[in-house]
Amino acid sequence: MGELKEREDGAPWRNFYGRRNGKTLRPVQEKMLAELLPKLAPEGVAWAENPGRKEVDFKSMVKGAKAAWLEIGFGGGEHLVAMAKANPDVAIIGCEPFINGVAMCLYAHENAGIANARIHAGDAREIFDVAADGAFERIFVNYPDPWPKSRHHKRRFIGANNLPQLSRVCAIGGRLHIATDIPDYVRHSMEAIAAFPEFRWTAEHPEDWRQPWTDWPSTRYEQKALREGRQPHYLTFVREPVVA
Ligand SMILES: C[S@@+](CC[C@H](N)C(=O)[O-])C[C@H]1O[C@@H](n2cnc3c(N)ncnc32)[C@H](O)[C@@H]1O
Repeated sequence: MGELKEREDGAPWRNFYGRRNGKTLRPVQEKMLAELLPKLAPEGVAWAENPGRKEVDFKSMVKGAKAAWLEIGFGGGEHLVAMAKANPDVAIIGCEPFINGVAMCLYAHENAGIANARIHAGDAREIFDVAADGAFERIFVNYPDPWPKSRHHKRRFIGANNLPQLSRVCAIGGRLHIATDIPDYVRHSMEAIAAFPEFRWTAEHPEDWRQPWTDWPSTRYEQKALREGRQPHYLTFVREPVVA
């Protein structure tokens, strides 16, 4: 798995190329991270809480939830919070290692009056560690980091490193959503996903990937892409059973 070293808390070392910290946090953000985040963190995902990596039931984290959905790299949390508000009967699990984004999301969460979101301030791979097969009915990867240089393409979230786990934790009949404004990321994702025929691309016409999903709340990154004249692409894959 390429996890050769260990961190001090015993967690495996994992290469992570994104940013974890940005501008100095304001006192109100520090307070939210200290007080609200522990209440919203999905139990059993942080290494220190579950070093044996026992399986965790995400759906049961929200009383009465009919399904669990996962958002990977939620940025400032606009999509996560809107989705949680629109779907109160779904356990919405989000993860984001960039702490300034997490602070923004907590702020949005506080103003939205929702009770069905859980926020992991860390890497999606820590969620994969403890998620059961088919744990998530829908998985959203909205505007993953583009890593435009070809020598950095291996860092892209959608690729051979993460697709086996994305396939495993996506429920049969569930959906994987990928939004990106980078045509080369589309090409790269299609090529990588072709090796996972259990992910069936649903598009039949160009409009199917040019138009946002019907329940799509835009994100900060998308607004910037639109201002700069880039075309969003919305890719949807249905998780079919693996045919032997
Ligand atoms: C370009 S930003 C998009 C943020 C947001 N989805 C949006 O559309 O505004 C990509 C995000 O993915 C996050 N990310 C990168 N690698 C990740 C990982 N392994 N697990 C979870 N999030 C990750 C980054 O920290 C970053 O915030």
